[in-house]
Amino acid sequence: MSSAASDVFPPPKDFAAHAAIGSRAAYDELRQVALADPEAFWAARARAGLHWFKPFGKVLDWKPPFAQWFLGGETNASFNCLDRHLTGWRRNKAAIVWEGENFEQRTLTYLELHRRVGQLANALLALGYRAGDRAIIYLPMIPEAAVAMLACARIGVTHSVVFAGFSSEALRTRIEDLGAQLVLTADYGRRRGREVPLKKNVDEALEHCPGVRHAVVYRHTNGPIAMRAGRDLEWAELVASAQPGCPAAHLPSEHPLFVLYTSGTTGKPKGVVHSTAGYLTQVLATMEWVFDLRDEDVYWCTADIGWVTGHSYIIYGPLAAGATTLMYEGAPDWPRPDRFWELIAKYRVNVFYTSPTAIRSFIRQGEAYPAGHDLSSLRLLGSVGEPINPSAWRWYHRVIGHERCPIVDTWWQTETGAILLSPVPGAVAAKPGSATLPLPGIVAEIVDAKGEPVPDGQQGYLVLRKPWPSMLRGLYGDPERYQENYWSRYPGSYFTGDAAHRDADGYYWVLGRVDDVINISGHRLSTMEVESALVRHPQVAEAAAVGRPDELKGQSLVVFCTLKGDAAATPELSEELRAWVAREIAAFARPEEVRMVEALPKTRSGKIMRRLLRELVTTREVKGDTTTLEDYAVLLKLSVEGKDEEEILGKN
Ligand code: PRX
Repeated sequence: MSSAASDVFPPPKDFAAHAAIGSRAAYDELRQVALADPEAFWAARARAGLHWFKPFGKVLDWKPPFAQWFLGGETNASFNCLDRHLTGWRRNKAAIVWEGENFEQRTLTYLELHRRVGQLANALLALGYRAGDRAIIYLPMIPEAAVAMLACARIGVTHSVVFAGFSSEALRTRIEDLGAQLVLTADYGRRRGREVPLKKNVDEALEHCPGVRHAVVYRHTNGPIAMRAGRDLEWAELVASAQPGCPAAHLPSEHPLFVLYTSGTTGKPKGVVHSTAGYLTQVLATMEWVFDLRDEDVYWCTADIGWVTGHSYIIYGPLAAGATTLMYEGAPDWPRPDRFWELIAKYRVNVFYTSPTAIRSFIRQGEAYPAGHDLSSLRLLGSVGEPINPSAWRWYHRVIGHERCPIVDTWWQTETGAILLSPVPGAVAAKPGSATLPLPGIVAEIVDAKGEPVPDGQQGYLVLRKPWPSMLRGLYGDPERYQENYWSRYPGSYFTGDAAHRDADGYYWVLGRVDDVINISGHRLSTMEVESALVRHPQVAEAAAVGRPDELKGQSLVVFCTLKGDAAATPELSEELRAWVAREIAAFARPEEVRMVEALPKTRSGKIMRRLLRELVTTREVKGDTTTLEDYAVLLKLSVEGKDEEEILGKN
């Protein structure tokens, strides 16, 4: 499937002339080198990119599906993000430029960030925390989130950031799964003018988590909170009495830097484990390849630190690269729809990385908002989290990039740690909607159900044939699920869970998930997680959740419920169930629509046929295979008003 010439956007000449990789030939050569000897390629990147306390010996130990990289080496992520920038001029460079939702501003230089990280790390050591312990970070988008992550990394405490939009219930399940001993949190977060009660959520979660010894609380808004003596500690008091200098622990390459929970196909979130050296090596490499970062840049990734994008491209990648990373606390449309454009103009942002959902909401608000601000500092634009529709791509290119900035459409996952498919902006021509080519060292393929490569243009499953340094090392405490989820379908290859096709130019077009995971505004959500939340409601008997294409959010959530005994299907109950899911999981999980039905379509063995429901909400009819359906009448009762049997069931 080759695209028309007008759909190809070659790297702008000006951009390419100043880019680290400025031609397709140079880039092809780099990919060739990586392909010829991946281990030598990554070893060279690791040696040059990181500071090593002890050099590594063996590059890769690959016993599928378990990989270990840079064995025998010792390093530290916090040291790489901070200390090595202190010996030269960068010590007074802004590491984090922060703006609060209420327009408050703070700038932390590398020296200042290093001092704060050292103080918190010393305070944690004094409380008895050591390498191997686990901490939960439940903080808003404030510099303390970075301080907390880097302080944990400094002493080898594995952190797990829980998105501050998650409920106390979601927080509790993550604390329990991780067996965390420590929680770092704040009194409140700010979101669209409201104060989000983070500490209260922590209190509720900790009622069920006796293993947590301490909750360290940062006063962000100074709103009222309860502090439990013996367990809860004031962040400010703790660091005030701590020494600033804290030597970074010499940690083995494979030391687990963090665990990040993401939705899988069951109700239980998966704890994706990432390493130290492999993760940092590849994240750092992509800062150069994809973002073409320069020392004088102001770089802004609009993600939240609660997601992997925030880990890799707000904190670890930019700081390891010695960049100035902009951090903004609030919503894109608060207090006005031009908040992002105002920030770009104010801080003279050069590289801007956001999501297709955000872009689509900007399109809705109209061009007057960006037109009212000076966006001339922008050099490069990025997109992540979901497929970007070509029309949104073109709008982004024209209205935000003024047809001057290349766009990098970056495909990756929580599990991959770093960007794997993306144009290299000075070298690879973009096509709207395509993440273009695999980055150096990445061997991607599109295969059929049997694992055989499909011809170009044909849809199949995206798999990765070779291990890569920033790949997940497993699922926390669950090696079987790791094997089963990613490596059982095509032994020896990593199954991404995405459908894709490749065109005649070798460009990849990722279409979306093929499992029971839906992508709402770039946030992954398991339909099973929603269903488990719904059946916890006293009036719900059974539930089935499916995704429906949504112009703004990519996908939206539709749920079908059967009710218990005498419960009545009222509009009030429908509202209550929507609010229930938002409270049990997070606001982004609030169903768009709740349909209360008499029965759900099931197979003879009793499995709910979500595929049929998906078809029904998407196309308003069911064309797929219904031979295993137990009772046709059920499907008809779910039907959309005004459609007859023939229309709903199609002709099969
Ligand atoms: O379906 C793909 C989609 O997001 C999934 C990964 O979600 P998550 O682990 O939450 O990480 C999001 C941020 C890296 C993928 O399996 N996805 C992500 N980026 C793209 C994408 N789909 C198409 N194009 C992309 N650029």
